[in-house]
Amino acid sequence: MIFRKSITAAVLASSLFLFAPVNVKAAPNVTIAQLANETSTLTLSTLFKLVTSPGQEAIAKALSDPASNLTVFAPTDDAFAGVNASNAKLVNAILNYHIVQGNYSVESLKSGVNLVQTFLNETLANLPQGQYQVVQVNKTGDAVKVNDATVVKPSLFAINGVVHVIDKVLIPPEKSTKVAKRAGLTQFVAALVKTKLDVVVDTIKGVTIFAPVDDAFLKSNASILNETTLAAILKLHVVSDIVGYSAGLKDGQNFSTVAENATVTIKISNGTVSVNGAKVLIPDVLVENGVIHVIDSVITTSSNATNTTKPVGSSTTNSTTSDNKSNTTGTNNSSASSVTSVFSVGFIATLFAVSVSLVAF
Ligand SMILES: *[C@@H]1O[C@H](CO)[C@@H](O)[C@H](O)[C@H]1NC(C)=O
Ligand SMILES: *[C@@H]1O[C@H](CO)[C@@H](O)[C@H](O)[C@H]1NC(C)=O
Ligand SMILES: *[C@@H]1O[C@H](CO)[C@@H](O)[C@H](O)[C@H]1NC(C)=O
Ligand SMILES: *[C@@H]1O[C@H](CO)[C@@H](O)[C@H](O)[C@H]1NC(C)=O
Ligand SMILES: *[C@@H]1O[C@H](CO)[C@@H](O)[C@H](O)[C@H]1NC(C)=O
Ligand SMILES: *[C@@H]1O[C@H](CO)[C@@H](O)[C@H](O)[C@H]1NC(C)=O
Ligand SMILES: *[C@@H]1O[C@H](CO)[C@@H](O)[C@H](O)[C@H]1NC(C)=O
Ligand SMILES: *[C@@H]1O[C@H](CO)[C@@H](O)[C@H](O)[C@H]1NC(C)=O
Ligand SMILES: *[C@@H]1O[C@H](CO)[C@@H](O)[C@H](O)[C@H]1NC(C)=O
Ligand SMILES: *[C@@H]1O[C@H](CO)[C@@H](O)[C@H](O)[C@H]1NC(C)=O
Ligand SMILES: *[C@@H]1O[C@H](CO)[C@@H](O)[C@H](O)[C@H]1NC(C)=O
Ligand SMILES: *[C@@H]1O[C@H](CO)[C@@H](O)[C@H](O)[C@H]1NC(C)=O
Repeated sequence: MIFRKSITAAVLASSLFLFAPVNVKAAPNVTIAQLANETSTLTLSTLFKLVTSPGQEAIAKALSDPASNLTVFAPTDDAFAGVNASNAKLVNAILNYHIVQGNYSVESLKSGVNLVQTFLNETLANLPQGQYQVVQVNKTGDAVKVNDATVVKPSLFAINGVVHVIDKVLIPPEKSTKVAKRAGLTQFVAALVKTKLDVVVDTIKGVTIFAPVDDAFLKSNASILNETTLAAILKLHVVSDIVGYSAGLKDGQNFSTVAENATVTIKISNGTVSVNGAKVLIPDVLVENGVIHVIDSVITTSSNATNTTKPVGSSTTNSTTSDNKSNTTGTNNSSASSVTSVFSVGFIATLFAVSVSLVAF
């Protein structure tokens, strides 16, 4: 009996210890703005200075409005060192990229990788109407990463939301070709440049790019194709107007590509996503105007045509055409708008588990 009691006491003590320390300083009657201005325990003065600088009035208002309900990723002063905060427009984009609608404690996040919508809108990021840029939140045990940043002080509660202090500034995703090059997709980028499609993928408002790894390009016959044929093949890798994050992809879903009359088909089997036979190796690489999925082979054939864009010397295309259909009865092409609505509605709702209330102080 006594033994059992002491175990209970120990469990209680340890859970109190788990919940108590982090939020002691965050009196629940301060706003997020006041919290950021609290310099004795936090080092968020650069963030506060930027929020209260000219041109950021809407953000300052949102963070001080007691009726707001926000999650703010707050970079420390050290994190801002070396960040170009030279003009109001850039600062506005950066600040918006750190703010999420709704109050999400770290404890309420689902484990694993979640894409979370920020306040960075279509104007600031080159996205389709009504869409917002996302951050990638990766929770592993107690560790939480947001893009490249690490949460160093989680769940500081304010009356109008919650602040997670992070160690790096979240820079909004850059242009597709720049991101692709940095991700090591040099052959793909070189082919885009050669065919002048680099401008297209960097500027269209909303894009889903299936980008083959270098190895796949080297194994293909891309290098011996003329520009016209190469361009036709590359276009099979680009879907415009739609940002198809992996969480929204469905088995059998068709996407019209920027290649004329050509669609590609998503296949999801046993957890593996492929597109016209090319397997997705790395999903959800974020870019300014959408998303890149890195794939393991070059797509050479449209889903709904027997022989469009078949390259010369096509023996190497054998393994990449498993989704090729010799008739069109099986391809129920979704329109761009219906796919877009699948991604924008109900997408964020699935990202978080029910919020665990920790307002215990
Ligand atoms: C928080 O509430 C306490 C008690 O009501 C009050 O004394 C204090 O001034 C409040 N702080 C702020 C920043 O409103
Ligand atoms: C920020 O904090 C300083 C020092 O406590 C205070 O003087 C100032 O009024 C605060 N600014 C705002 C906008 O709350
Ligand atoms: C704040 O946002 C959270 C998460 O979206 C939601 O569960 C909660 O109901 C919201 N609170 C208010 C007061 O709107
Ligand atoms: C996007 O956000 C900026 C800055 O808050 C704002 O000026 C602009 O009107 C917004 N655009 C849309 C379409 O909401
Ligand atoms: C998420 O974090 C874990 C642990 O740090 C890491 O192994 C994994 O690669 C990360 N996932 C992504 C997509 O970054
Ligand atoms: C490019 O190559 C294709 C396939 O070999 C050929 O049909 C086409 O005529 C070529 N175009 C040019 C401009 O050379
Ligand atoms: C393939 O699908 C696209 C998009 O729905 C359509 O425009 C095109 O006509 C189709 N091509 C063939 C050969 O059926
Ligand atoms: C696309 O489809 C239209 C209508 O079927 C056809 O007129 C046109 O030639 C096709 N273009 C290509 C490149 O196949
Ligand atoms: C399905 O995936 C699991 C785990 O990756 C693997 O062990 C299993 O062999 C796969 N099954 C098939 C039929 O591919
Ligand atoms: C297949 O290729 C031939 C020769 O280029 C062309 O005449 C024919 O229209 C193509 N068929 C389809 C369905 O694209
Ligand atoms: C196609 O792939 C199969 C299986 O990988 C292989 O046996 C066959 O030789 C290939 N055909 C060509 C023409 O490369
Ligand atoms: C046409 O495609 C459908 C769906 O992929 C398939 O069930 C059917 O057997 C195909 N018909 C022919 C003649 O290939």
